[in-house]
Amino acid sequence: MAQAASISRLSARAADCLRTGPGTPAGRYLRQFWQPVYHSVDLKTGRAVTIRIMSQDFTLYRGQTGTAHLVDARCPHRGTQLSSGWIEGDELRCFYHGWKFAPDGRCIEQPAEENGFCDKVSIGAYPVREYLGLIFAFLGTGRPPEFQGHPEFEQFDGMVEIDSYSRDCNYFQNLENALDMSHIGFVHADNAAVFKGVGLGRALDAEESDWGVTYGFTRPDGQRRVQQFGMPNIFYLTALPTDPDVGWQESMFWWVPLDDTRHMQFSVHRVPAAGEVGARVHARRQARRTEIDICHQTLARDILEGRAHMAEVDKTKVDLVRLQDDIAQVGQGLIADRAGERLGRGDIGVIAIRRLWDRELAAFLEGRPTKGWRRDASIVPRAWGLAGNPARIGGEGAGGGRIAEVIDVRPHVEIAEQLKALHATVR
Ligand code: FES
Ligand SMILES: [Fe+2]
Repeated sequence: MAQAASISRLSARAADCLRTGPGTPAGRYLRQFWQPVYHSVDLKTGRAVTIRIMSQDFTLYRGQTGTAHLVDARCPHRGTQLSSGWIEGDELRCFYHGWKFAPDGRCIEQPAEENGFCDKVSIGAYPVREYLGLIFAFLGTGRPPEFQGHPEFEQFDGMVEIDSYSRDCNYFQNLENALDMSHIGFVHADNAAVFKGVGLGRALDAEESDWGVTYGFTRPDGQRRVQQFGMPNIFYLTALPTDPDVGWQESMFWWVPLDDTRHMQFSVHRVPAAGEVGARVHARRQARRTEIDICHQTLARDILEGRAHMAEVDKTKVDLVRLQDDIAQVGQGLIADRAGERLGRGDIGVIAIRRLWDRELAAFLEGRPTKGWRRDASIVPRAWGLAGNPARIGGEGAGGGRIAEVIDVRPHVEIAEQLKALHATVR
């Protein structure tokens, strides 16, 4: 009974985790952390775009020096969109009347003003850092926290594949789905890359770690699968590889809201394939980018709205895992209503995430100290059924100082869809 009461209390409070626009509780909390906001390869030198992250618009541009910058979306003069302007060196000139801004947000030119008042004008500027092929930004106020890297993904004998996607529902649904192993045997039942037999609630465990939640499943034979959730919105897991040349694969995901009903999963995989093997894996992955030519987001909606059926889907032409998760998660509603939920033992991962969020958000809003989440080298995922052991820092396969190459493997149809989602619509 005590458990039921505490779960329903969490369900009511969960509403605070869902809305992430400026000034909202979760929006303010998430802005305390560095977040990926775009892919490096998508931002060309000398180009600017308006992106929407957590219901807030920004201008993201790459100066002629190659450095990426992030500033407010609109010009403070009369409010036009700054991304339509000109990039001059690392500075940005507004399209409308030519006011010019430095990357730190200072206004440095006002061509029509004989008595310029540049020193009274500035726009918001946000620290940016490129890492593992992603553009990270700190969207909060004050000094950004230290940027926490993930050395396993930097140096090892293999490549880092970028494989992000967008999903048309609230980000927290995907975040909760991370620690929900009991969905795998159903949603992904026909997928070769799933761990069969996962599901029984009493075989699951979830413990708070220094980074977030360590989530495990123990098979009857004692074999364990362990996944790591990092507060507030990161996931580190081992996947069964789908390529015959790859013995193990690890992935890290960040779930970043675009607005309250759409989000990005920024994904990087570390794939232990180098040299000749690497070239073979690379060729297959690149071919797949074109072969997948059905947009999973559109197809999911067609299935949910009765215009198509899962049984008729051509699995070679769509990213099946994403489509399956789209159907489950978007099927919960654009923002899932949790008030009537009936949670069971199989949901302990979901409950663990909600508890942490609930506790941290309450502390944050009341001005009490929040936990400083850190991942050290001991917080790693593991799984059975792999060929070989994942390379660990300093260990075998760690690469001896070789920087792993970052390779984009997103299907072209997916890139088009996610840029549409990331680029702010005019409003
Ligand atoms: S609106 Fe930007 S200079 Fe006028
Ligand atoms: Fe899934």
